Amino acid sequence: MPEFELARRIKDLPPYLFAGIDRKIAEAKKRGVDIISLGIGDPDQPTPKFIIKALAEAAKDPSTHQYPSYQGSMDFREAAGEFMARRFGAALDPATEIITLIGSKEGIAHFPLAFINPGDLAICCSPGYPVGKTAVGFAGGEVYEAKLTKSGKWLPDLRKIPDDVAHRAKLIYLCYPSNPTGATATSEFFSELVSWAHKTRTIIMTDCAYSEIYYDEAEKPLSIFETPGAKDVAIEFHSLSKTFNMTGWRIGWAAGNDQLIAGLGKVKTNVDSGAFNAIQRAGAIALRSDFKSVEKMRRIYKRRRSLAMQGIKQIGAKAAKPKAGFFVWAEIPEGFDSDAAFADFCIEKAGVVVTPGSGFGEAGTGYFRIALTVDLDRMETAFSRIEKALASR
Ligand code: MLT
Repeated sequence: MPEFELARRIKDLPPYLFAGIDRKIAEAKKRGVDIISLGIGDPDQPTPKFIIKALAEAAKDPSTHQYPSYQGSMDFREAAGEFMARRFGAALDPATEIITLIGSKEGIAHFPLAFINPGDLAICCSPGYPVGKTAVGFAGGEVYEAKLTKSGKWLPDLRKIPDDVAHRAKLIYLCYPSNPTGATATSEFFSELVSWAHKTRTIIMTDCAYSEIYYDEAEKPLSIFETPGAKDVAIEFHSLSKTFNMTGWRIGWAAGNDQLIAGLGKVKTNVDSGAFNAIQRAGAIALRSDFKSVEKMRRIYKRRRSLAMQGIKQIGAKAAKPKAGFFVWAEIPEGFDSDAAFADFCIEKAGVVVTPGSGFGEAGTGYFRIALTVDLDRMETAFSRIEKALASR
């Protein structure tokens, strides 16, 4: 049998964070452990019924069965544009400034292929959603990690980025509301970022997948396009996954500068054939809805956030309340050598999955992340199990 050697870009890559965790879950389940997963951020509530109904109807229409348009259906792009205008006051032309994605992860993973040459530099945040950094690597680029800190409110300090890095960097990738920290970007930060990008001629890639999961009407997460001048330099990634509990459907969009959208579009014409038309039709109906279903989800996450904050105290860990998104980012309790050791302990001794902070980059060391995607009873059980396990350690 011949042996096939993996390409270096894959061989040198650790398993995708959640694929590695899935393996541990499968092993524990095989041993008969009742696993409670606070790991991946995958909404437990179903997609709202009106969206499922729209999909079922659209799927019956044979015109949805053929190849979709590469850029996405005009109806979906218009619905995304209407949402951006209504929610953020952002004016984007659906014809040239919006493209449909097969989930925002797909767009984030493909975008660097359009603008990064081998040896180019990109700035990614640590801790940060790992896909941005990996995607730069796939394009042959190098990554400069901007370290985020609690005292810096988990926002990059642009003044600390060395001049040579700022001038060499082709792009900067950021995620706000932040996965994993739950921090949000302020308008001051976005203004500073946009002027910095103009000055250094850097592309801004913002990941806005959690924009609708917030806890306080007065603190609604921002889009970069609320900042003047952003459209000259930025592309932003949006998703229906978290807003409408549609992770499995794979639907989202990117919005922004027309050259950036066209570059991403050119990559996509070569690697995929677009998102299923019936899903785009249902997605457009979701985006044009009254968002009552999202309000309901926000109330659910708020109750879970309160319980999680108590639970975190109960197990001797420390966390600040997340401002948005459905993750709580916490410092591991004392007595563990590393966040990986704590995460292993939780799964082995309590049957609870938490995500080790270092999985989001070196600056996540000493932290763990929990997702508020299980119901209150299960979450309470998870924390009691960890507390008990810690007591008998
Ligand atoms: C997460 O848990 O970080 C996300 O659900 C992963 C993703 O959106 O790909």
